[in-house]
Amino acid sequence: MKHLLSAGDLSRSEAVTILDTTAAMAATQEREIKKLPTLRGRTVVNLFFEDSTRTRISFETAAKRLSADVINFSARGSSVSKGESLKDTALTLQAMGADAVVIRHSASGAPHVLARSGWMTGAVLNAGDGTHQHPTQALLDAYTLRRHLVGLRGGVDPVGHGLDGQHVVIVGDILHSRVARSNVELLHTLGARVTLVAPPTLVPVGVEPWTCEVSYDFDQVLDTEPDAVMMLRVQRERMGGGGFFPSALEYSRSYGLDARRFARLPDHAIVMHPGPMNRGLEISADAADSPRSVIVEQVGNGVAVRMAALYLLLAGAGDASPPGHAENPAPIEGAA
Ligand code: NCD
Repeated sequence: MKHLLSAGDLSRSEAVTILDTTAAMAATQEREIKKLPTLRGRTVVNLFFEDSTRTRISFETAAKRLSADVINFSARGSSVSKGESLKDTALTLQAMGADAVVIRHSASGAPHVLARSGWMTGAVLNAGDGTHQHPTQALLDAYTLRRHLVGLRGGVDPVGHGLDGQHVVIVGDILHSRVARSNVELLHTLGARVTLVAPPTLVPVGVEPWTCEVSYDFDQVLDTEPDAVMMLRVQRERMGGGGFFPSALEYSRSYGLDARRFARLPDHAIVMHPGPMNRGLEISADAADSPRSVIVEQVGNGVAVRMAALYLLLAGAGDASPPGHAENPAPIEGAA
């Protein structure tokens, strides 16, 4: 694996290797000195053409914890705002010797174009492209699910495990959500059952072949006692004026995780949200701030997942020094 473009590209063994490597990275982050020499001398460029808080800071932190040099490039304030193309930007990064480019772009497919173009030789990591993919978000979600549902109940780190038999319900604006697409693919690969819940207007046309079930009735799905409920943000910036649901109140009544629905979750179930949240719309403050909410932990796990991804893509090439001792993660099979 040279790039990380799409959650669906990962085999089960590659995905489990990333989750196991994440566990090793997370363990290093419990130490007093969190910085590892692993990617010393390597350059990681964060190329963000679309707004981001969590993902951008998380990738930057991950690269710095691995001792890489990090260059942050945002479209605003760069020559992209003067009309420079993705190609010319990529050629510039290549000339500057970028070993990896983390790209977020509003156009679905932009990271794939970068990876396949030959404009640059470094690894490409997709940090979210349009409504298409967000693979590191799906990986951090899978890691969080595995820790809580497979691991912590037995008190052991579930190394080597997938998510077999777990039922994950993803609720909300599926139509505009790269998080939903990536999660459906990865959770299926890892053996989980996924149910999407949304109003018909927010379910993509052509959802039939997706490896999941679809429901329009949140209350009915809650009867099945899911292991996790992942609430998605209503992405108003992609709705171009609205018309997808009658009113915020109506949406929240039918599809929000309010106090009544929250109380119906089984005792072991966890509540997730990729952030940023619209409190009071898709999720109530009670649910978001409850002890069974893992929303803040998801953000923390994001750093370890991105450390794992950067390590496996860059150190897989051979000459970078690994994190050390028993938790030394092995490169992904076939990493180039
Ligand atoms: C998501 C994204 O950008 O796709 N957020 C994130 O990466 N943490 C989801 C969203 O914006 O709602």
